[in-house]
Amino acid sequence: MSVNKLEELRQRKEKIFAGGGEKRIAKQHEKGKLTARERINILFDEGTFVELDAFMKHRCVNFGMEKVESPGEGVVIGYGQVDGRLVYAYAQDFTVVGGSLGEMHAKKICKVQDLALKMGAPIVGLNDSGGARIQEGVDALSGYGNIFFRNTIASGVIPQISAIMGPCAGGAVYSPALTDFVFMVDKTSQMFITGPQVIKTVTGEEVSAEALGGAMTHNRTSGVAHFKAANDEECLMEIRRLLSFLPSNNQENAPVFQSSTDINAIIPELDEIVPDNPNKPYDMKNIITAIADEGDFMEVQPYYATNMITGFIRINGQSVGIIANQPKVLAGCLDINASDKAGRFIRTCDCYNIPVLNLVDVPGFLPGTNQEYGGIIRHGAKMLYAYSEATVPKITLIVRKSYGGAYLAMCSRDLGADVVLAWPSAEIAVMGPEGAANIIFRNEISESNDPQATRAESIEGYKREFATPYKAAERGFVDDIIEPSATRPRLVDALNMLASKQETRPPKKHGNLPV
Ligand code: HXC
Repeated sequence: MSVNKLEELRQRKEKIFAGGGEKRIAKQHEKGKLTARERINILFDEGTFVELDAFMKHRCVNFGMEKVESPGEGVVIGYGQVDGRLVYAYAQDFTVVGGSLGEMHAKKICKVQDLALKMGAPIVGLNDSGGARIQEGVDALSGYGNIFFRNTIASGVIPQISAIMGPCAGGAVYSPALTDFVFMVDKTSQMFITGPQVIKTVTGEEVSAEALGGAMTHNRTSGVAHFKAANDEECLMEIRRLLSFLPSNNQENAPVFQSSTDINAIIPELDEIVPDNPNKPYDMKNIITAIADEGDFMEVQPYYATNMITGFIRINGQSVGIIANQPKVLAGCLDINASDKAGRFIRTCDCYNIPVLNLVDVPGFLPGTNQEYGGIIRHGAKMLYAYSEATVPKITLIVRKSYGGAYLAMCSRDLGADVVLAWPSAEIAVMGPEGAANIIFRNEISESNDPQATRAESIEGYKREFATPYKAAERGFVDDIIEPSATRPRLVDALNMLASKQETRPPKKHGNLPV
């Protein structure tokens, strides 16, 4: 090989790797953002990333684009290892034409999507883009269409993770929305269909980009995002952590990690965690971290519908999806947003062969016109649907209240729970003692000389008889009532017993999830 040819290759690569040049890189850093290649280096195990299609160029000649160079076409694509496992990624380069997406930029993203699907490996998209490259018109729109199509085909086959690390406007928001998990970086990322200026023109409403589509907006209010990170580095490290809970594809199980926590650990504080007064709240997260290996809980959507808790722990090294009521918020009632959050998470776990553990303390569905008009019937149905459809091991632990429709919606035996355990504090009935006594002892109360005393006695009687786990256990709806301190060994045992679970459903094109 002549020295000239090698020199030419080196020079070409150097130019491409310099992205949009020093000035634009400095601007990126000033905003508190890393460049696409800096991000890739943090995401992957050191030295494992292999870049593809670095030489790709756009072929647009509209509006002077023929004079615009776009090193790498504004997106870095390739594959590498995360904790030694194959992962694909693309990272949009905002320093090159604002990371905008044209025909060839989209082709690059589609290439890694296709490779990831063929190889059965997760794909991570790092988004930082001004959206469709305006000069490329319908070619840019077509590019998005191709990406959305692949997102959908890969859904439930390989884990797809999106990080929003800059602006993400227009069609650019829909690829992340079609993936399994969305991370956002606080203060430097925004997602919206139409930006503040368009909103002002069309509706007259004035709103800042951050209030409209910042990380907190989508984590707390809209539920579009699942995680919020303080900066780029934290975001990328959290993506690595999330990948550790997930299998590479739907044919595999999540990796098992050696745990230093004793599988037979008796946890005395669990005997004290539920207050004697059934109306007193406590923090369900203390139960979750107590039973988890190393106390490690990766909460999913920690800011959204906080009456419902979702996330990943490991028990005896194995990934487990947690769906739990939070008695500290709205007394743990199910409502529209909590049902959506749980329904989606149950389906995510089921796609990727992750057993679910349901921790129940739920007084019922939240009553009210807001909920009824908002369609709580079809939203709540998502939980019933998701649990019934799921064939992964399903373990339900009834900690305290489990009433009415919410008893069913939190994965009762009838929705296919494989193991149902209850603590002695469990109350399983059609409705709470006060409401029940008012209805079934209505005549006794109204005809009594001392209605107040009769009412109190009726409530106490109902509580003794029905607000316990024993009636449900007599019918076999609860397999065993256990001492709270012995919960971890029982869960380890249940997961071991369920490891070989096989369950099939009738063949169909796909079900019709209520949306
Ligand atoms: C072409 C773009 C671009 C775009 C940014 N640039 N967005 N070029 N098409 N969509 C270019 C800029 O011209 C600029 O080039 C460089 O990228 C950096 O952009 P700045 O504006 O200087 O950066 P900043 O001030 O940080 O603002 C970022 C921004 C703004 C908020 C994203 O650029 C912006 O509003 N862009 C347009 C957003 C948008 O409306 N996109 C179309 C969405 S519609 P120079 O050469 O000056 O450095 C859509 C439809 C798809 O996506 C539907 C699919 C179904």
